[in-house]
Amino acid sequence: MARQQDLTELAKRRGFFFGSNEAYGGTAGFYTFGPEGAALKRNVEAAWREEFTHRLGNEEIEAPTVMPEPVFEASGHLDGFDDMLIECAECGESHRADHLIEDAVADIEDAEALGVDTVEELIGDHDLTCPTCGTALADEPVEDFNLMFETSIGPGSGQPGYLRPETAQGIFVEFPRLKEYARGQLPFGVTQIGPAYRNEISPRRGIVRVREFTQAELEQFIDPEEDEPPLDDVEDVEVTLYPATEQNADDGDYIETTIGDAVEKEIIESPWVAYFLGVAQGWYEAVGVDMDRFRFRQHLSGERAHYAADCWDAESEVGAAGTAARSASGDEEEPRAEGNWIEIAGFAYRGDYDLQKHGEHSEDRFTVFKRYDEDRTVERATVDPDMSALGPAFGDAAGDVADALETLAEEDPDAFDSDEVTVEVGGEKHTVDTDVANFAIEEQTEAGEHITPHVVEPSFGVGRTVYTLLDHGYSEDTVDTETRTYLSLDPEIAPTDVAVFPLVSNEDELLAVADGVADALRDAGLAVTYDESGSIGRRYRRQDEVGTPFCVTVDQDGLEGDDETSVTLRERDSAAQIRLPVDEVVGELDALLAGERGVRRHSRDVPHCRHRRDDRMNRRQPWQPGWATPRS
Ligand code: ATP
Ligand code: GLY
Repeated sequence: MARQQDLTELAKRRGFFFGSNEAYGGTAGFYTFGPEGAALKRNVEAAWREEFTHRLGNEEIEAPTVMPEPVFEASGHLDGFDDMLIECAECGESHRADHLIEDAVADIEDAEALGVDTVEELIGDHDLTCPTCGTALADEPVEDFNLMFETSIGPGSGQPGYLRPETAQGIFVEFPRLKEYARGQLPFGVTQIGPAYRNEISPRRGIVRVREFTQAELEQFIDPEEDEPPLDDVEDVEVTLYPATEQNADDGDYIETTIGDAVEKEIIESPWVAYFLGVAQGWYEAVGVDMDRFRFRQHLSGERAHYAADCWDAESEVGAAGTAARSASGDEEEPRAEGNWIEIAGFAYRGDYDLQKHGEHSEDRFTVFKRYDEDRTVERATVDPDMSALGPAFGDAAGDVADALETLAEEDPDAFDSDEVTVEVGGEKHTVDTDVANFAIEEQTEAGEHITPHVVEPSFGVGRTVYTLLDHGYSEDTVDTETRTYLSLDPEIAPTDVAVFPLVSNEDELLAVADGVADALRDAGLAVTYDESGSIGRRYRRQDEVGTPFCVTVDQDGLEGDDETSVTLRERDSAAQIRLPVDEVVGELDALLAGERGVRRHSRDVPHCRHRRDDRMNRRQPWQPGWATPRS
């Protein structure tokens, strides 16, 4: 829980993230992950891959980030991937018109759903002014602004192309090959982790709204009539839902329920979407998102993307100081924390929209062949046009007339009941003798049919997940009368597992022991930082601020006497310390990081999705008794 300013300052100071190209004045909407941030982001991606690719049995691909224009004509992004833009006539600054409304009008949470005209009206009604210079915006038009970055592929005029605005299109366009890889068998899932680009009108809140960001997406291809998700795996997972109906109601509130119940009561319409919400809830919890600041919110109908039949967002509350709020209406006894809800993932039922569109716009087949249990005999209307008659009658159009007759036979066989039949080609009507068409009803045996799979899509923003983890992990307390800041990051995603410090840097024996400990920990596969400079208190603070769960300090006391060499092991959150023989450090840390003692580590073998809320709250074990009282 951090105020935005504190978090941004820490992120910059400790190398998590900072604005890019600062030497050249900075570029709004572009951020660089520093060493700590890049390591944290990699760990988040690895945890996501573990869950959504490996554990769910999916395949991961890596497609190009630049794609040619026809892809986005087909996908609908050229026409429909817009945000609402308003520009200030006085200072020239651009703003997201819907965000101005959300910031100014307390009971409007999603102005995007209202449409351009209403938002323009509301800006006038509420006398909104430019946040940059304070000039009235009432007379300024609100316009749709396409968010894609355009480029040209190849030299010269080249071929128009775009930086992909979602990784998903890289999966959809490769569907014909991916289905072969899956041997034509539904259901199958394909994942991708990589950059996406959006020319956001007003990037804000650090890495939360940027122009280049990383998405982790799963496209689950299903046969909507046959395939069901393994709902049993997640039916007991407890979730906080904020359905559209509750958002629209005056006294609307969250619904606390289980995934199984939400499906049974049709709060979540698609069992596949519900399944992925359950899996996501478990994953977010496992990587350290505070579940008291987390909810699933359904899109309002005007808010949904052009391809989505239904969509739920995972949202986290960030920037809040104080206790969590669990009430949407804010009228319960618990104090309402002042945070902002941000979307961190979207779960869309995309239906057959994408594959249909790519099938229509390209030469390839975006279908799979669905074999029937038994061959079926069906009656088919067919034509076998006499081209020796069509040629002289229609010249160059004869082939098209023949094709039109074939289509008409499939769509409206009754049209061949009379002596003549009329088809339209290129806007012109052509009449043909029915005899020339050679119309017949034939019995055919069919082994199956070509169907267009439906797509269910969990789409995660990696940067927003990182931001949430930093925000939720941000903590302050007092140790030895000094206030300290520490990041309570889950060991699984913390950039560093353990820091090793020799207490002084001028004792060869002590340095050799510390070096040996660091090497042994690295050999055990842990991420280790070795630091021999500055006071020990400073070194602890530094590691606390980057979320390192454990520190090992080698001091002179541990080397003296006849006893075995010993070192001090310190835990981040409690600042508690124990002394232990140097030979036991690797084993002890391994156990601690694996969650066998004290701190939990995410494991593939743990069916974490099944935990109920109470159980979850208790899973983080208290620090082991017997450890010394906290000190620096
Ligand atoms: P928003 O309404 O906040 O603009 P969106 O609905 O456009 O988000 P999606 O299109 O559903 O977002 O994208 C999927 C995920 O990608 C989001 O949940 C978010 O985590 C991430 N994402 C989208 N846009 C951005 C951005 N500009 N910066 C960082 N992450 C983003
Ligand atoms: N793939 C979902 C989105 O980025 O809109």
